Amino acid sequence: MEKLQGAEDLFFACYSDDVPQNGGVCVKYKNEQIAIFNFTRRGEWYATQNMCPHKQQMALSRGMIGSSGEECEPKVACPFHKKSFSLKTGDCLTGEDYKIRIFPVIINNGKVFIEVKSIG
Ligand code: FES
Repeated sequence: MEKLQGAEDLFFACYSDDVPQNGGVCVKYKNEQIAIFNFTRRGEWYATQNMCPHKQQMALSRGMIGSSGEECEPKVACPFHKKSFSLKTGDCLTGEDYKIRIFPVIINNGKVFIEVKSIG
């Protein structure tokens, strides 16, 4: 695992140029698929589990990202049945009792690192 100086548990996932603007890619770390989102419109990056908890589809990296509600909560909508999830908290925003895991993202020198200490 490539490390950033002074940073523990950071996984080099890809180059920032590998992730489309306002879109996502999927990378694998151990047995976990991680969806990485380059939310260019907001100037923000997010990472979540790639599996949608609704029907266990590996799909969230291909979901549509946007902002929701008065709080402008950043979200991703699963391409299958459009259930959407907060990119900040992982909470389901479409009223169901689902939750996805989120991971901190650090961009350094054109590289995307994911904090993976919670991944076994
Ligand atoms: S599998 Fe994602 S919303 Fe149904």
